[in-house]
Amino acid sequence: MKILTAEFLTSSDCLKNCPIYNLPEVALIGRSNVGKSSFINTLVNRKNLARTSNTPGKTRLINFYKINDNLIIVDLPGYGYAKLSKSEQQKWQKNLEEYLKNRESLKSVIQLIDARHEVQNNDIQMRTWLEHYEIPIITVATKIDTISKNEAAKSVQNISKTLNVEVIPFSAKTGIGKQEILKILSAIISQGL
Ligand code: GTP
Ligand code: MG
Repeated sequence: MKILTAEFLTSSDCLKNCPIYNLPEVALIGRSNVGKSSFINTLVNRKNLARTSNTPGKTRLINFYKINDNLIIVDLPGYGYAKLSKSEQQKWQKNLEEYLKNRESLKSVIQLIDARHEVQNNDIQMRTWLEHYEIPIITVATKIDTISKNEAAKSVQNISKTLNVEVIPFSAKTGIGKQEILKILSAIISQGL
């Protein structure tokens, strides 16, 4: 699949405010700073389509992007951002779960895991929750360019073993893994709504 067009559509705070697009949708989840927004930018060959930052923002919104007029990619704020107040965290958690559980067009979630670190408890919690609601998960190890080839292979194997799934190594910097992801997205598009 070639990316011909990519555009930002809108941001919504919760499910009831999410527009209905009648297109298959894929959402990115992962800890704060793992590289979700960068993942989108690399996928669509655009530097700043999705907003990235070194310091995670406080805005908790569901961000919608349209690709090739036939797929919606959703950028979600990361989990595990400790600087938010308890009540803000709880409110976002509720909105996030409601979106994931009840968004009819959501076909799959892409969970990003930082290749430099072990799988964290909140990654596992999120997966267990998604599995309970039978939401398909694609697992990606990000920032693979920051470690040596040897370490990268070890890390991917580790994540794969811990979660008992196939893991796609990815780098927003070098584009490693991009073609494999595009193939998977292409298959999701073919399956339709
Ligand atoms: P939140 O929206 O805060 O949850 O973060 P995020 O998951 O969207 O992360 P974001 O894409 O903003 O990236 C966070 C930082 O990691 C930025 O400084 C990116 O440039 C950097 N980064 C992301 N992906 C990669 C990668 O594959 N390689 C390298 N070297 N840096 C990356
Ligand atoms: Mg982001």
